[in-house]
Amino acid sequence: MRNRIPSGETNEKYIISGGRKLNGEVRIMSAKNSLLPLIACSVMVNDEVFLSDCERTSDAENMLDIVRGLGGKCHFDNGGICLDCRHINGHKTNAELTGKLRSSVFILGPLLSRMHRADICYPGGCDIGLRPIDLHLTGLSSLGVKFTSEGERIAGECTELKGREVTLPLPSVGATENIIMAATMAEGRTVIRGAAAEPEIIDLQRFINMCGGKVSGAGTGRICVDGVNSLHGCSFAPSGDRIAAGTFMIGCAMCGGDVDIIGVDAAHVVSVTGLLRAAGAEITERIGGVRVKSSGNLRAPGRIETKPYPGFPTDLQAPMTALAASAKGTSYIIENLFENRFRHIPQLLKMGADITVCGRAATVRGRKLHPADLVAEDLRGGAALVLAALSADGTSTVSGLSHIDRGYYKLDERFRALGADIIRM
Ligand code: UD1
Repeated sequence: MRNRIPSGETNEKYIISGGRKLNGEVRIMSAKNSLLPLIACSVMVNDEVFLSDCERTSDAENMLDIVRGLGGKCHFDNGGICLDCRHINGHKTNAELTGKLRSSVFILGPLLSRMHRADICYPGGCDIGLRPIDLHLTGLSSLGVKFTSEGERIAGECTELKGREVTLPLPSVGATENIIMAATMAEGRTVIRGAAAEPEIIDLQRFINMCGGKVSGAGTGRICVDGVNSLHGCSFAPSGDRIAAGTFMIGCAMCGGDVDIIGVDAAHVVSVTGLLRAAGAEITERIGGVRVKSSGNLRAPGRIETKPYPGFPTDLQAPMTALAASAKGTSYIIENLFENRFRHIPQLLKMGADITVCGRAATVRGRKLHPADLVAEDLRGGAALVLAALSADGTSTVSGLSHIDRGYYKLDERFRALGADIIRM
């Protein structure tokens, strides 16, 4: 069993009285998907690191616990995360922790670089598909790592890491990041072809280079890493969370209102902007943010197909499905990245949604949704249910909050500040 449900399940639920418009400002914090590899990468830094504007999502907390288990010191302070990995002395991660989040796999590259060995449990995370780690392992093997696996554990060893040419058959974000990290202090040059081009990879490049590494090409399909002997500390500001920003953009479009979303690069959410405009929302882009104005009466955004960046992100497919379910007209959703990412749909059906699924495609015939008792089954699907409940007249509940807590910190408070009626009980 490779994908496990996060433990720490809570009986808490959101009670949401939907139908209120959203107005005001929301400040977006550092991207969770940047932060997690950056925390892992800090294991390679023999110095202090500060990552600014970080939220205490449970994924971030768990990742820090993994680093602590290896001998690193880390804590939240001054709105960010301080890490000191000078005394890392372990190479084996705690099985329960690694089972909690997919991103625990990021520790492989940095540990192999620092300790020349690593012993981890197969990573957990959202149950949105098979989520193999074969590309991580073959990429790291190309740099000289020998892997053995026993039960749920996988161990890697190398005498030294050597720069090589690595070609990824598909642009895996995590595999690209793991290979970059392992190559950072390898001997010689590594070239990654077929690399993923997500903004979070540019963040990783900026961070490593700020620590004295030599990475270039992030944001393109060809990344070049020239190995260096050591990394020094730095204070780093990751980019704003484009998925959190997209969640608020879609929420405002659905509920109606006028929300200024601050701290995200408008270019990072351009695929969301295009769909929301097609649905009838007014979006103003500016440096460092976007503003969404909407009457709440939307038309179907049309065809939505998830793709690697700069295409429409799979992480916003569920929120966009919730929007399509309550907009006027028919939309077609195609999920290309993960085979099990429609788990929010049975929940939306409870609200009266008219959606038929055929394999990786969903046909959504929009209609007015009614309130219901909903259960989040994964992180982004959970956020989609919150948005659907916020926009539907009447009182809904959303349980399964441990999934949502993985990637959104105090989501209820953020929406309450915009005028929503949502409480956590
Ligand atoms: C990252 C994001 C996640 C997002 C996803 C796609 C983080 C922490 N998470 O996940 O939020 O939904 O990118 O944008 O950044 N694959 C393989 N073998 C592998 C690795 C991946 O076949 O070894 C496949 C996956 O099953 C999937 C596709 O590649 O179909 C893309 O996955 P990948 O880009 O690796 O996603 P993650 O890095 O896990």
